[in-house]
Amino acid sequence: MAPRWWLLILCLAGNILHGRAQLDSRGFINIDCGLQGEESYIDDETKLVYVSDAGFTDTGTPYNLSAENFLPWRSRNVRSLRSFPDGVRNCYTLGSLVSGLKYLFRATFLYGNYDGLNKRPASFDLYIGVNFWTAVNISLWGLDQDNRVTVEAIVVVPHNLVQVCLVNTGGGTPFISGLELRPLKMSLYPQATAELGLFLLRRRNFAAINGTIIRFPDDPYDRLWYPRSDATMWAEMTTTERVDDVDGDEFEAPMAVLQTAIKPLNASGSIRFGWEVAPELNNASPGPGYLAVLHLVELELLGGDALRQFNISVNHDESWVPGYTPPGYLRRAYVYNKFTNPSHSSYIVTIKATANSTLPPIISAYELFSIITTTNIGTESQDATAVMAIKAKYGVQKNWMGDPCFPKTMAWDGLNCSYAAANPPGITSINLSFSGLNSDISSSFAHLKALQYLDLSNNNLTGSIPDALSQLPSLTVIDLSGNQLSGSIPSGLLKRIQDGFLVLRHGNNPNLCTDRNSCQLAAKRKSKLAIYVSVPILVIVLIVSVSLLVLFFLRRRNQQQGSMKNRTAVKPQNEEAMSTSYGGDDDSLRLVENRRFTYKELERITNGFDRVLGEGGFGRVYDGFLEDGTQVAVKLRSHSSNQGVKEFLAEAQILTRIHHKNLVSMIGYCKDREYMALVYEYMAQGTLREHIAASGRNGGCLPWRQRLKNALESAQGLEYLHTGCNPPLIHRDVKATNILLNARLEAKIADFGLTKAFDYHNNTHLFTNTLAFTPGYVDPEYQATMQPTTKSDVYSLGVVLLELVTGKPAILSDPEPTSIVQWARQRLARGNMEGVVDARMQGGYDINGVWKVAEIALKCTAQGSAQRPTMADVVAQLQECVELEEGRAPSFHTGGSSGDDNYNAYTSAQSTDVSNNTAFETELRIPTLAADPGPTAR
Ligand SMILES: *[C@@H]1O[C@H](CO)[C@@H](O)[C@H](O)[C@H]1NC(C)=O
Ligand SMILES: *[C@@H]1O[C@H](CO)[C@@H](O)[C@H](O)[C@H]1NC(C)=O
Ligand SMILES: *[C@@H]1O[C@H](CO)[C@@H](O)[C@H](O)[C@H]1NC(C)=O
Ligand SMILES: *[C@@H]1O[C@H](CO)[C@@H](O)[C@H](O)[C@H]1NC(C)=O
Ligand SMILES: *[C@@H]1O[C@H](CO)[C@@H](O)[C@H](O)[C@H]1NC(C)=O
Ligand SMILES: *[C@@H]1O[C@H](CO)[C@@H](O)[C@H](O)[C@H]1NC(C)=O
Repeated sequence: MAPRWWLLILCLAGNILHGRAQLDSRGFINIDCGLQGEESYIDDETKLVYVSDAGFTDTGTPYNLSAENFLPWRSRNVRSLRSFPDGVRNCYTLGSLVSGLKYLFRATFLYGNYDGLNKRPASFDLYIGVNFWTAVNISLWGLDQDNRVTVEAIVVVPHNLVQVCLVNTGGGTPFISGLELRPLKMSLYPQATAELGLFLLRRRNFAAINGTIIRFPDDPYDRLWYPRSDATMWAEMTTTERVDDVDGDEFEAPMAVLQTAIKPLNASGSIRFGWEVAPELNNASPGPGYLAVLHLVELELLGGDALRQFNISVNHDESWVPGYTPPGYLRRAYVYNKFTNPSHSSYIVTIKATANSTLPPIISAYELFSIITTTNIGTESQDATAVMAIKAKYGVQKNWMGDPCFPKTMAWDGLNCSYAAANPPGITSINLSFSGLNSDISSSFAHLKALQYLDLSNNNLTGSIPDALSQLPSLTVIDLSGNQLSGSIPSGLLKRIQDGFLVLRHGNNPNLCTDRNSCQLAAKRKSKLAIYVSVPILVIVLIVSVSLLVLFFLRRRNQQQGSMKNRTAVKPQNEEAMSTSYGGDDDSLRLVENRRFTYKELERITNGFDRVLGEGGFGRVYDGFLEDGTQVAVKLRSHSSNQGVKEFLAEAQILTRIHHKNLVSMIGYCKDREYMALVYEYMAQGTLREHIAASGRNGGCLPWRQRLKNALESAQGLEYLHTGCNPPLIHRDVKATNILLNARLEAKIADFGLTKAFDYHNNTHLFTNTLAFTPGYVDPEYQATMQPTTKSDVYSLGVVLLELVTGKPAILSDPEPTSIVQWARQRLARGNMEGVVDARMQGGYDINGVWKVAEIALKCTAQGSAQRPTMADVVAQLQECVELEEGRAPSFHTGGSSGDDNYNAYTSAQSTDVSNNTAFETELRIPTLAADPGPTAR
């Protein structure tokens, strides 16, 4: 569930945090806030190394305690602090954590009149990530000799990096003296899960020797066990004998804590402690309840008839633990319970001997936690990563601390976020105008996939405009005016502007080349251009000396050349225009980002057309390497066939116009005498069909999650053709062999040889002189009417979805040829999902998710096109399936406690739960399917 974006931020944190290693060898983080004049020191008491907080936060002001409080006997940790007078939220960033593991967080506060005002802040709030931890009330005195206030929580961290934030709630300037982090074994405190944290109210060690706090190294997790004794009520017991360890101990209280205990002075007396329900601990709303853990070890060797037996009751209800006897001499034991009764305003725990007991009750220690919820979700991971990178790159100050969008009231200045229910917030707009930004435009802007509005005006941005911005589907306004940008406006953006999807403001960039023709010419044909420019100048010189006639003739010639250049640079807006422009005119393909190769170059690139990647009706596809080592696929038209010239040119034209991450992109082309070739990005993992048939290059059965992802990616590529292009493009040959996978197993639609523009203005809809299709994939309506529509692609994609669900080819050959649509429809109509879903996935999926995809596939393959969803609907629905599947991710916390039982006594070694193994099946099985019968020839 938890996105892993913090992993990426880690690299970034390296920048912010000066690359300092944050963890010591135990995984501890020990921060002495406000420490100055030295980087680190060894703490006298624990011998742990404490470091300055300078590498963990970039705001706030360091202070020492006032002179009268800066006393030598005080722990060094609390003699300095950091105060945050500015901004509502200020944060510490703790990196190098392990996402999904459990940590103990501890923050320490000692005011010590650091500001000379002698006025403690009444209260401020503390957050771990986006979840409320506690309100800090400094006016309370702490329990230790320094009177410091210490707050502690045990939580499972969702990311590899966590921010601890102080929030000014109007109760005075927040400050902090120390911040510590200790990793815990996952099996400890099983009540702390991804959704619930434990906020420590109290941790008491009865009869502590010399009244000292026990912590590291006695407690390897460095919990603070505060001493508690009262000689008027309790007798103290101590032992120097070892207390036995037991397997599966869920709390691992340190030995030193368990070696001391109390019993009532009066054998018939009781031990009591209690707490009040304090809603402010849970942000003004009562939390899910409390957890109490009692550590009970027998420290006396009991004679034959002696019996120590006691009832542990809560609010006089004796049913919590009736008739408890510690399991044996020096044997570790504990009992715990969650208390969630909302009607109680306070709880009192009473430990009292039973009537049969010959000895008074004993107790060594107890811990009391308020349960806190940790279910708030921060900004969508990719957005958060991107905007953190932007912050780091430009050193943005503002209030850019903590989570970018969450909570809404503290969202970063200049950002707008979408807060759709159930989804993590996404960033929809960024305004960084007049922010003094230097250097080039960060590529991270192009990762903000929900971005609609980007304002970077009036800064000092240099370099060129990244074309990657054209990939942002929702981006409608970019304001780059008032900068120092250079280069030209990239073609992808120009395309979106021409299509009316985007407004780009670029005024007041003196070095920006905004006339596309002259920019291209400047870049590509400097020398020729020089001639065209110098010709008129020459002519003007000649006017003077020769004749007006010569002048007239030369100028006319020059204009003609100019207008020809114009035509080639402007992309044709429809198929008709294209078809008129390509007949024999090489310039028609000479578009800015595509390289033109000679046949000789192709020979070199492909090592003499050495390795064949695939073959189609058009010709063969060869493996090749460009000079810079980029691997490419070269599709060479076989000149034995007349077929394909038109398709070749059509595909080349289309490919120069479309740019999308889920469409295979063209690197260049070749039109050298009779040779024609297209050079594409290399798709290392071959066709989706190969993977479905489990004859993929790595073998193995494609897991469901991967299938789902590829389905969504394919739909996104087609959606771009249908809605992102003007006029819309119809692929006309969608099939599993035309969906290719790159090295990261990302799907891209390939083969645009049959792609057609869909012209709404001409009501005819028709560009089909031939019916293009592959059996099994063809839309029956298109077959009947010869009129392809975008819904024809929807139909074909539906077939691909069925292939993904069933693992079967588009046409089943057994016992006689049947289309997969018919086959699946019959079975699904009877509710027979199991008979349809690919058995090789061996249940590595959520059946509801598979049903949903099957349903989408059936809708897509509806007989009539009007009943089919649009590609955008398909994308939206598949997106939901992906989210559902991601929500199914195995979580890190183990089985969970039996804490809802009223009685949880630890008596002997328990076996731990075997956690569910929900990992995906990747076992290799021999494919039982017939080879793909779908012909590839056209
Ligand atoms: C705090 O005191 C230390 C010396 O003990 C000194 O080096 C440091 O600069 C002081 N910090 C501030 C903020 O005055
Ligand atoms: C802080 O604690 C003191 C003492 O218990 C109490 O009087 C005060 O109201 C508390 N302040 C806040 C803001 O909770
Ligand atoms: C308790 O204090 C005494 C005297 O100061 C000392 O000798 C002894 O070592 C201390 N015991 C512990 C466990 O710290
Ligand atoms: C012990 O406690 C019982 C019941 O609370 C009381 O009646 C009795 O007097 C106590 N004995 C002493 C010695 O305090
Ligand atoms: C107390 O002892 C009697 C006799 O041994 C037994 O019947 C009774 O169940 C015991 N009560 C408890 C609470 O264990
Ligand atoms: C750009 O930088 C120059 C000097 O480097 C500075 O004078 C100018 O104010 C800056 N402009 C903006 C808009 O920040």
